[in-house]
Amino acid sequence: MYKIPANTLFMGKNLVFVPECPSTNTHALQISQQSPVNEGTLVITDHQTAGKGQRGNIWEAEPGRNLTFSLILKPRFLAVNKQFFLNIAVCLALKDYLKEKTSDNIYIKWPNDILVHGKKISGVLIENQLRGATITQAIVGVGLNINQKEFQTASATSLSLVTGEQYSLNEELSLLISCVESRYLQLRGGQYELLMNEYLGGLFRRHEKHSFSSNGLLFEGVIEDLDEAGRLRILVGDEVRAFGVKEVVYLG
Ligand code: BTN
Repeated sequence: MYKIPANTLFMGKNLVFVPECPSTNTHALQISQQSPVNEGTLVITDHQTAGKGQRGNIWEAEPGRNLTFSLILKPRFLAVNKQFFLNIAVCLALKDYLKEKTSDNIYIKWPNDILVHGKKISGVLIENQLRGATITQAIVGVGLNINQKEFQTASATSLSLVTGEQYSLNEELSLLISCVESRYLQLRGGQYELLMNEYLGGLFRRHEKHSFSSNGLLFEGVIEDLDEAGRLRILVGDEVRAFGVKEVVYLG
């Protein structure tokens, strides 16, 4: 069981714990469709059986060892063409949280993977509901590896593997949710430039030559920055090209 975070204004104040569910994002959406829910409602499980990742991937997490949750937000203030800024705010919140736990080497791999020492510790999946030009609701799904020690892929890690310590999921949840609230309030306050600059400051492999693939074509380029829509701008030869989330893959 999880406690309602004490140090937030509204984030996580309505906490829905489900011992097991296929996906907290799906569960959160179902709850919001059944009856009105407060902004900041937190849906959390100890065992996600069909966790959804980016690009149709599966998010795997050992039961009871990690944080897998979704927040229901209502960012009606956010223009649809700026929706990537919610992503930015959540990634920065995860980075803020991790900075409290471990000294350095925390990066954001565009669009929303959080890496520590080059390995993925956390992922974010945001599913927006739009009505016209308004974002009526956003389901913000977060998977954060905390106490898990073994992973199927060598490119994954956990807080426990990084620091050698064991954590209380409950305490980590409270700290993380307060970080999310702080960044969300910056977003609500219209601090787009600050959020973008901090995101770019933490961007993995920025300004380095790197291999990519797009539409089956391999190429080398240098990550420059993002455009307002959150597309990755890559310098390819002497031309800067912008790629959406599904249009480019890092190849290492
Ligand atoms: C990714 O990196 O591919 C995104 C992973 C997001 C996983 C979280 S776990 C809680 C929430 N519910 C889901 O089904 N997915 C997100």
